[in-house]
Amino acid sequence: MVGNREVQDDDLVVVNPFRRTCQVLAPLVVMALLSLTGCAAEDDDVTLSSAAADGRAIAREAGCVSCHGADGSGRVGPAWKGLAGSTVLLEDGASVVAETDYLIRSIVDPDADLVRGYTVRMPSNTLSLEEVASVVAYIEELQ
Ligand code: HEC
Repeated sequence: MVGNREVQDDDLVVVNPFRRTCQVLAPLVVMALLSLTGCAAEDDDVTLSSAAADGRAIAREAGCVSCHGADGSGRVGPAWKGLAGSTVLLEDGASVVAETDYLIRSIVDPDADLVRGYTVRMPSNTLSLEEVASVVAYIEELQ
């Protein structure tokens, strides 16, 4: 019986520091996870839908962002921020509301509707219709 008690005491000695380690480590692990999420949030806007996040990756890869800005605020080309639903003035004097169809057409056939005020011509690209749809989803979420 005494032997058993000694074993139990030994167990407690082993168990206690382990528990304490867990108590110290658990918040650290949570903090580490939170900081990882924080880093991800800086680069990838968590409010984007997955289609829009794909679209952003595609726009980066295809080089669209070199003209339209890494955050869509525009450079050589018009800003994507706030574009969806806005009225766009075209070179020929007409105006068009930037609905989904217009955005798709602007990417698939860059010469179809020329936005007024830009001397640089948007180059054509080889995006698939699926990729175009993702980029449009991204543009539409950039408000
Ligand atoms: C060399 C610079 C350049 C690159 C690269 C470029 N664009 Fe453009 N983009 C422009 C310019 C300039 C315009 C405005 C003139 C026009 O309508 O062609 C424009 C217009 C647009 C419009 C319509 C904007 C509006 O205000 O109505 C969309 C949408 C668009 N681009 C998407 C894309 C996508 C997607 C890519 C990548 C596949 C891309 N662009 C690559 C320069 C560029």
